[in-house]
Amino acid sequence: MKILLVSCLLLAGSQVLAQSSGYAPRHPLTDPPPPAADVQTQYWFPSHPQLQFPAGTPIDVVVGIHNGGSQGLNFTAIMASLNAKDKFSFYIQNFTFVEYDTYVPAGEEASLQYTFMPDGSLPQLEFQVAVQLFYNNQAKSFSNTVFNSTIDVIELSSFIDFQLLGLWGLVLAVLGVGGFFLYKYILGMPFMKQYGRRTKRKPVQTTVTDTDPAEWLKGTFANMTSPQKPKRRSSASGAKPGMKRPASNPALNQR
Ligand SMILES: *[C@@H]1O[C@H](CO)[C@@H](O)[C@H](O)[C@H]1NC(C)=O
Ligand SMILES: *[C@@H]1O[C@H](CO)[C@@H](O)[C@H](O)[C@H]1NC(C)=O
Ligand SMILES: *[C@@H]1O[C@H](CO)[C@@H](O)[C@H](O)[C@H]1NC(C)=O
Repeated sequence: MKILLVSCLLLAGSQVLAQSSGYAPRHPLTDPPPPAADVQTQYWFPSHPQLQFPAGTPIDVVVGIHNGGSQGLNFTAIMASLNAKDKFSFYIQNFTFVEYDTYVPAGEEASLQYTFMPDGSLPQLEFQVAVQLFYNNQAKSFSNTVFNSTIDVIELSSFIDFQLLGLWGLVLAVLGVGGFFLYKYILGMPFMKQYGRRTKRKPVQTTVTDTDPAEWLKGTFANMTSPQKPKRRSSASGAKPGMKRPASNPALNQR
């Protein structure tokens, strides 16, 4: 409680000091200086190229500069703001005024990185974001509006979900490929080969037992009395013409 009171007093005191100093700093985004004729700028949002900014997440913007003029220029600051989509005069957030000390000679290029954070409490809506670049030569100050477009503020969790989805896809793909090789490896192991042979043998054995009675019947009384005998012989002779006929001939002779 005491600490709170003290800090309140300190805050009040500092505000009084700031007011009493009589120094009223001009807001950088209010009426910024005009651009220099031969300065071109570009922007790049490396991690959010779709201009979907998760609320409460730092957003990087890289500002590319080309000094096409005949004089060197000092690039001194960048500041951005988040505004209402259809009412630019409604400033929702003024981001940090970041100072740089980048001298770009005539005809040369440079790039600066600026980071801002849309407030975590912003609703998932379209907003306007403007990024302003400040620079000067020895005589004058200039500024360029590097970026001034509609952006989407999105929920951080949906952005993370989306990234996690991609990650899970990758994990599943790796597991799938790994599982396939593991499966092939297990099948290639010695005991699995034996198992594989056994399973292959089983149907062969059953066909043998199926044909066994016929083999066993051959040459016995059952063979002689069987009414199916001519059918069997024809099928057997059809399958192996040369081999079966001599064997069947003695049977006929026995009759
Ligand atoms: C943000 O910047 C605008 C334009 O310079 C100014 O009118 C407004 O008062 C600023 N808001 C805050 C909270 O500093
Ligand atoms: C740029 O800044 C440096 C030091 O901050 C200064 O010496 C130099 O004169 C400046 N150049 C221009 C073109 O403003
Ligand atoms: C940004 O664009 C809006 C229109 O979309 C315009 O009203 C506003 O003045 C522009 N701001 C800057 C800093 O250029």
